[in-house]
Amino acid sequence: MNTDLIIANWKMNPVTLAEAKKIFIGIVAGARKAKSVSVVVCPPNLFLPELTKLPRTKNISLGVQDVFYEEQGARTGQTSPAMVKAYKATHAIIGHSERRELGETNDLVGRKVVHAIQEGLTAVVCIGERERRDDGSYYTFVREELEAALLGLQRKDLAHLVIAYEPVWAIGKSAADAMQPCELHEMMLFIRKVLTERFGRAPASRVPVLYGGAVKPDNAEEIVRAGGVNGLLVGSASLQPKEFTAIVTAASAV
Ligand code: PGA
Repeated sequence: MNTDLIIANWKMNPVTLAEAKKIFIGIVAGARKAKSVSVVVCPPNLFLPELTKLPRTKNISLGVQDVFYEEQGARTGQTSPAMVKAYKATHAIIGHSERRELGETNDLVGRKVVHAIQEGLTAVVCIGERERRDDGSYYTFVREELEAALLGLQRKDLAHLVIAYEPVWAIGKSAADAMQPCELHEMMLFIRKVLTERFGRAPASRVPVLYGGAVKPDNAEEIVRAGGVNGLLVGSASLQPKEFTAIVTAASAV
């Protein structure tokens, strides 16, 4: 399986535009050497208009961390796909666990995914269990999140869909707490099975499935090599250009 997509999720960081530019320039310098990998940087929306003006190579694009499911209107605090597209964002993370924790439901996620894709963005849908019990109930949980996100989609939409499996218990932890590649591999097969049930084998096989949660330079290569993933969603390490470059380089070598 080819690894070809690495997404940087900056979350609510950094605080200033000057820092954001510095990190972005560092990421561009590192990622331009790994041309086989596509890198998507998702900064806070406020920085998008400035970062989009900075030079970057073809394998680097910009994305956002959320979008709303309507184009405009009385929706205090929301941002629409049309608005972020004006600043050349191509991807939107949708349903990240940190948003779900604040009340984002499967229903909202499903609506956002449909609208983002209709508007021409690639939706990066985050799914993942909060905890792992021995009874295996996390499979049911992941299935429910995934099916809800896919509900309004048709086969033709799959060209603009990415799934990011992020077990919540691994997010923000150290490399030692990331998921073991053999367990990850099992979950990847399960996610592919659910996608196949819904859309058929060939269309489902073309949807990139990423892993996120404590991805660091130390573990990136093994996760990609043994985990059966098509890429990575990187949080805290994506704010450190050196670490992020090491992750991109490790993944591109697999
Ligand atoms: P992390 O975050 O890499 O800091 O664990 C991943 C994410 O939340 O997308």
